[in-house]
Amino acid sequence: CGIVGYIGPRHVKDVVIGGLRKLEYRGYDSAGIATLSNGQISVVKAVGRLGNLEDKLLTEAVEGELGIGHTRWATHGRPSDENAHPHQDCSGKFAIVHNGIVENYVQIREELLAKGHRFQSETDTEVIAHLMEELYNGDFAGTVLAVTQRIRGAYALVVMAKDDPDTLIAVRKASPLIVGLGEGENFIASDIPAILEYTRDVYVLDDGEMAIVRRDGMTCYPLDGATTVAELHPVEKEVLHVTWDAVSAERGGFQHFMQKEIHEQPKAIRDTLTGRLDEDLQSVALPELSWTDESLQAIDRIHIVACGTSWHAGLVGKDAIEKIAKIPVEVDVASEYRYRDPLVTPNTLVIVITQSGETADTLAALRDSKQKGLRVLAITNVVGSSAAREADDVLITWAGPEIAVASTKAYTTQLVTLYLLAAYLGQARGTLSSDAKAEVLGALAGLPTVAEQVLDAAPRIERFAKDYQEARDTFFIGRGLDYAVSLEGALKLKEISYIHAEAYAAGELKHGTLALITDGVPVIALATQTHLYEKTLSNIKEVKARDAFVLGLTWAGDEELKKSVDEVIYLPRTSPVVAPIVAVIPLQLLAYYAAVVRGNDVDKPRNLAKSVTVE
Ligand code: G6P
Repeated sequence: CGIVGYIGPRHVKDVVIGGLRKLEYRGYDSAGIATLSNGQISVVKAVGRLGNLEDKLLTEAVEGELGIGHTRWATHGRPSDENAHPHQDCSGKFAIVHNGIVENYVQIREELLAKGHRFQSETDTEVIAHLMEELYNGDFAGTVLAVTQRIRGAYALVVMAKDDPDTLIAVRKASPLIVGLGEGENFIASDIPAILEYTRDVYVLDDGEMAIVRRDGMTCYPLDGATTVAELHPVEKEVLHVTWDAVSAERGGFQHFMQKEIHEQPKAIRDTLTGRLDEDLQSVALPELSWTDESLQAIDRIHIVACGTSWHAGLVGKDAIEKIAKIPVEVDVASEYRYRDPLVTPNTLVIVITQSGETADTLAALRDSKQKGLRVLAITNVVGSSAAREADDVLITWAGPEIAVASTKAYTTQLVTLYLLAAYLGQARGTLSSDAKAEVLGALAGLPTVAEQVLDAAPRIERFAKDYQEARDTFFIGRGLDYAVSLEGALKLKEISYIHAEAYAAGELKHGTLALITDGVPVIALATQTHLYEKTLSNIKEVKARDAFVLGLTWAGDEELKKSVDEVIYLPRTSPVVAPIVAVIPLQLLAYYAAVVRGNDVDKPRNLAKSVTVE
């Protein structure tokens, strides 16, 4: 979900709705706004996209001295007008917006019902508004403090009070919130792009902090178990000056963010390599890591933990680290990892991979691992994100803001970072032979150019995509690294085109799934792994013999594959070791164009959110 708050002289509605527009990728099944004017709070909410709310606002006036807004991704209670935020108490004294989950809401709701409160929605959030009303003693901040003592769970909260036209109060517990600093005005948001139009100076609230935000300033208090306002002591916060460009968060000349982000990959890869690969390709430097030589030598196993596309990056990372650095690696989906009681040693390194740095499951794995005393490295795309701040070490993927829900440039830069890390570990531990060094570092350095060449195939892939318009089921097959990329290719297709896609290790097909291959079923077959080429070819023949329609992917110059398949996409030659970074790009384009021809909302696929901050 996305949160925006504003207090100042501008048109509140414009600031709040404009901010929500930038945050829509955080959730978009309903939205709402509350403003305070002449001692009255007005709330307008609408199910569906932000546009529906804007339509409503054409006829329902909301203006005021301050306001809050929210764009929702449903957790408790289906998407509806009633369940949209902001929520209010019975008497309309307060309005609140909230991200996260109130874990003990059922119990609180029952207590409040018994006291005569009447609820309008099915959400966990509404209990916070009623609790504010129940506990209110004339002291706004004191009441928010009291409420935070009653509710359990992870949340970001912004509250406004009818009796206090000069204050917004924000509380952060495990769900991100920032305060944007202006002159005679201030902003609150769950993410920086929401306010970048107005200010580049922000405070990032820390976990367990409450910010009292006024027109002329803000004060921040760590809650630290305080039970009364008198026990709160303000902290000095460091201003974070945002240097990236607001325009880079906009769509540029492309039709969709996803398309723009696919085409940004050469630059994103180059930015991620910059300063890490020395010019004569002799070594990798990762100066941001705090590891001593001793701790680096001591690592005896690595656990990679992530969700979705980042998990797929982890699968490639395992292969790279095991091959290059000879350290055993396990890869887990974060929501499984925390509950499976993984076997660790004191020298296990945990690597969490997360584009947003805010995925709840991944953060939970990070926190559990730290609690066990393990060293955690975060690979993330968001500076200042929770993962970046809580991990012992951080490697940033310099992909820039990724807006489309389906991840593209974040994935390829995660892969680049994992290769750099594998080479860095290998070089320090003496497992990186000079041949392997020349191959891997040379291939990495050449990737931005190779990626540009792959993108030249976009018009051809667009034509293929039309053939998939009517497809019901598709299969992606490959062996080794090609299998890892198949998983990502299938996920992309599912996410945005809604065509059912299944990724299969090519050699495993015959053990069951081959039964689904019939006349015309589209199979996308990857054959970039030279040492597995012959074996993959046999598997391709198995599906061809069942009359599948096969689109093959292999290196330019290959004459063999085209004899066995219906169509081939050729990749510019590079080392098969880094093939996933190259091979995924046509698959991203295929998914993109398949979604476009089917008329889908590419950047905001149904049921999905960019950043899932609930478990
Ligand atoms: C969501 C997104 C996926 C993403 C996953 C992990 O489900 O829709 O595209 O891969 O979260 O996100 P993260 O920010 O942790 O990489």
